[in-house]
Amino acid sequence: MDVRPVDPFDDELLGRYQDLCRQAELYERPWESIWSHAELRARFEHPKDTEHLELFATFDGDEMLAGGFLEVPLEDNLDKGFVHVMVPPAHRRRGVGTLLLGHLAEAVRAHERTELLVETSYSFGDRHDHPYRRFAEKNGFQEVNVEVVRVLPLPVDDELLDRLGSAAAPHHEGYRVETIVGEVPDAYLPSYCRLHNQLGVDAPTGDVDFEEESLTPETFRETEKRFAAAGTTRVSTVALLGDAEVVAYTDLVVRAEETERANQWGTLVHRDHRGHRLGTAVKVANLRELHGRFPERTEVVTSNAEVNQNMVDINDRLGFTPVAVLPMFRRFL
Ligand SMILES: CC(C)(COP(=O)(O)OP(=O)(O)OC[C@H]1O[C@@H](n2cnc3c(N)ncnc32)[C@H](O)[C@@H]1OP(=O)(O)O)[C@@H](O)C(=O)NCCC(=O)NCCS
Repeated sequence: MDVRPVDPFDDELLGRYQDLCRQAELYERPWESIWSHAELRARFEHPKDTEHLELFATFDGDEMLAGGFLEVPLEDNLDKGFVHVMVPPAHRRRGVGTLLLGHLAEAVRAHERTELLVETSYSFGDRHDHPYRRFAEKNGFQEVNVEVVRVLPLPVDDELLDRLGSAAAPHHEGYRVETIVGEVPDAYLPSYCRLHNQLGVDAPTGDVDFEEESLTPETFRETEKRFAAAGTTRVSTVALLGDAEVVAYTDLVVRAEETERANQWGTLVHRDHRGHRLGTAVKVANLRELHGRFPERTEVVTSNAEVNQNMVDINDRLGFTPVAVLPMFRRFL
């Protein structure tokens, strides 16, 4: 067996890689999502300046056995590298994952990063001894944070949204709530990016410390191009102060490949503007937009730190239910 890079512009190779990822990621994990072929291609055709992404696979001769990737931030969090290893059930327990992980760790070390981070997910019942946890521990990783995956069946009852929206409204009278589908207006971008950059700092992340990210209006526009190329739609609701100062946001992502699901990405209220029920307000408005635009979607999947009580409370009220744990593991290089 050996590990080789996967050329993302080789359609046949990328197809095999993606097939292995699907088998590994979706096995016993209906809440997981994988990148579609179009999304993977778009990530390389419109690369982020702020991150180095590379795909690798374990081969036995010409047969591809497992896929993995590394993501190394280039402008912030310069001590960290993120990796993922995906071995389909048919090839497990033969050292395939260990070989690939070792290769990815070396590649991250070559970028002079010192913290190797990996995420996985499994059901609550197995959280202390699931095979993926054993694999991580056997390879020298320790758990540093635990998120919980939650699922919300759609549509959410309109009456519930009305009730939550009306209860929140008197608390945020000085703010304007606006939903954006597609391009974010130029005037909003500087404050919108500042809020996105703050998410890793403000959301609880256990024993691992993240710096602010370095998204700029220019790099955000590149992300929009990547989304358009892959048929992905971002549905965002923001709260604004004055004409264009974004002080809260929430993002839902609707992917062409997955026809039934939407993914809840970040939600953040600026520190100076908390306590006005803006978190509820933006989420309620965003779900309304999702119902209207994508009535065929049947669920929203999200994850939050297990201890992020404020966000979890809002999600509980909306009807999200926990389905799995999503731990992060770290190994120092
Ligand atoms: C986790 C995963 C990558 C392991 O791949 P693999 O090729 O089966 O792993 P290896 O054969 O190299 O296993 C190495 C060690 O991990 C532990 N391990 C792996 N699978 C295990 C299992 N089913 N039960 C108990 N221990 C297990 C063992 O200690 C094993 O060593 P051993 O076989 O000498 O006892 C694979 O199951 C997978 O792709 N899971 C889904 C994707 C994922 O969550 N990846 C991130 C994991 S942190």
